[in-house]
Amino acid sequence: MHILLLGSGGREHALAWKLAQSRCIAEEGGTLFAAPGNPGIAGHAQLVTLDIANHGEVAAFCAAQSIGLVVIGPEAPLVDGLADSLRASGFPVFGPSRAAAQLEGSKGFTKDLCARANIPTAGYVRTKALDEALAALGRFAAPYVLKADGLAAGKGVVIAETRAEAEETLRDMFSGGGEVVIEEFMEGEEASYFAITDGATIYAFGGAQDHKRVGDGDTGPNTGGMGAYSPAPILTPQIRGEAMQRIIAPTIRAMADEGMPYSGVLYAGLMLTNQGPKLVEYNCRFGDPECQVLMMRLESDLADYLLACAERRLGTMPPPKFSDHSALTVVMAAEGYPGTPQKGGTIGKLDAAEETGAKVFHAGTSLDASGSLVASGGRVLNVTATGQNTAEAQQRAYEAVDKIDFPSGFCRRDIGWREIARTG
Ligand code: AMP
Ligand code: GLY
Repeated sequence: MHILLLGSGGREHALAWKLAQSRCIAEEGGTLFAAPGNPGIAGHAQLVTLDIANHGEVAAFCAAQSIGLVVIGPEAPLVDGLADSLRASGFPVFGPSRAAAQLEGSKGFTKDLCARANIPTAGYVRTKALDEALAALGRFAAPYVLKADGLAAGKGVVIAETRAEAEETLRDMFSGGGEVVIEEFMEGEEASYFAITDGATIYAFGGAQDHKRVGDGDTGPNTGGMGAYSPAPILTPQIRGEAMQRIIAPTIRAMADEGMPYSGVLYAGLMLTNQGPKLVEYNCRFGDPECQVLMMRLESDLADYLLACAERRLGTMPPPKFSDHSALTVVMAAEGYPGTPQKGGTIGKLDAAEETGAKVFHAGTSLDASGSLVASGGRVLNVTATGQNTAEAQQRAYEAVDKIDFPSGFCRRDIGWREIARTG
């Protein structure tokens, strides 16, 4: 079977690395294509140029290459309905429909669904009117959680410490029209929990903890994620059970009941409060960099599971298997990230890093005119290692980081600190 993987980040490099080990590619002569991919993905897949916004062009490529499975990595093409278009042309797709991707694309949609299905999450007000939003602040206590609706790559959320700051933020958010969700502030530690589903059967697909702030000790501005580890032992079997029974399963059931069956991976951002896990947000894709650590631990054949979701027969498969060891990834970013990252910085000695046993996933890299590897994005490399526990995986990941020659790059030095502080 031939597979087409769409995307170009560290998440897609990890998916490509794992898909290339699948039986259909590694043993049965299938080809893995990736569009647009990146120089790391090129080590596992044949890169192709496709305009992903042009659904007809993608479908024509799938027909010409007899593609048996399309895997959509990022959220934007899902929210844009690419999965619907390809399914309509008869291709199995791993990833939700446009309607189902609203779980990520619209915070208001998700909050309303949670309210209908009685799913534990922060109390909220959803409004399109500034005066209503300003009045609604009176129903909440500081800090105020304010979310602009729509895909915002993590930048649509402001946590305002004072009422005056909240009012100013709301005026700013409404200046371009649109809709805002105001939420009750939830206290607790955050964790990412994943499930794969074909719309009916649901399997847990691992947990992880991300590090969203740019600086050590969780300081500085928010980013897409500066590092992650899996498993996240704070997601105890009891919490995972509750998250599945009270949050994920009722969501999948409600989506099916309402005529928008969800298939693909559902990524639940959880707040672990003292009243149990509550939903912060859903994403309709794998986390980045959480995917990188999940793939390092996945023992099952990835293509088999993604195809079973796409073909609505996940129930015929046993639950996927993950190894017990820990995986930890450190994001190396370009100086300036998350503001304006410095592009074009040279990168070397990735071989030396991988000789330590680590895996270096490429996120924002490209080849310059002379064929040398350079930084081309904010998050550039994901240096990923495994160990008996989080501390050992951390030590191995930083050993590999320290081999890499990336003068215009930086990373956090404390990925995994919460878990390591807990276990001593
Ligand atoms: P979101 O894009 O909805 O995940 O929000 C981004 C970040 O804001 C989350 O990862 C949390 O750290 C924080 N956040 C969002 N909603 C809440 C909430 N209701 N209470 C506390 N923190 C929140
Ligand atoms: N690592 C956070 C995200 O993928 O949204």
